[in-house]
Amino acid sequence: MAYTYHEAHSVFAWRVNKLLIACGWPSRAITDIQRSWKMSLWAMVAWAREDPVERSSPRPYLVGMARLVGDGIYTAVLFDVIVHPDHRHRGIGRRLVEMAVDYGKELGVAEIECCAAPGASGFYEALGWEHKDAFAWKFGEDTDG
Ligand SMILES: CC(C)(COP(=O)(O)OP(=O)(O)OC[C@H]1O[C@@H](n2cnc3c(N)ncnc32)[C@H](O)[C@@H]1OP(=O)(O)O)[C@@H](O)C(=O)NCCC(=O)NCCS
Repeated sequence: MAYTYHEAHSVFAWRVNKLLIACGWPSRAITDIQRSWKMSLWAMVAWAREDPVERSSPRPYLVGMARLVGDGIYTAVLFDVIVHPDHRHRGIGRRLVEMAVDYGKELGVAEIECCAAPGASGFYEALGWEHKDAFAWKFGEDTDG
């Protein structure tokens, strides 16, 4: 199946909850998704197209997303790296993360970090990321992503 990648435009936001729910993540308010994309340095979504043989008018559907937040010079953090379970292990996650890293490099960001979800460390390792020991602290409610 062919996948395409597009900047996360606000009109795509209403497609996100289907992806989040398929991945077991809580759904989000559309306006919150739009705001998170708007306030990010970079946000990308991946689309798949339904098999035209099975549908008379194949519709694209959202199968992945990722975003990068940061100050554009010292640091950036990857968030919301997520791929639909039916489309995993096909290189979508790699493509999204590599695009984020390329964008960070283009900006001249010194370091890109992420906090790997349980079970996702091997994914970052496969992409050449290094484990960085850190004590994570938080203020406010937990969010997936
Ligand atoms: C983690 C996730 C984004 C990977 O997406 P994906 O599209 O399946 O990943 P890719 O197909 O691009 O895989 C890239 C490489 O990582 C490896 N990989 C993928 N998922 C992995 C995992 N969970 N553990 C170990 N390695 C993994 C693949 O084998 C591949 O290696 P290769 O290129 O050497 O063969 C996806 O499993 C997901 O959405 N998980 C749930 C949400 C999540 O945990 N996100 C991370 C938030 S920090």
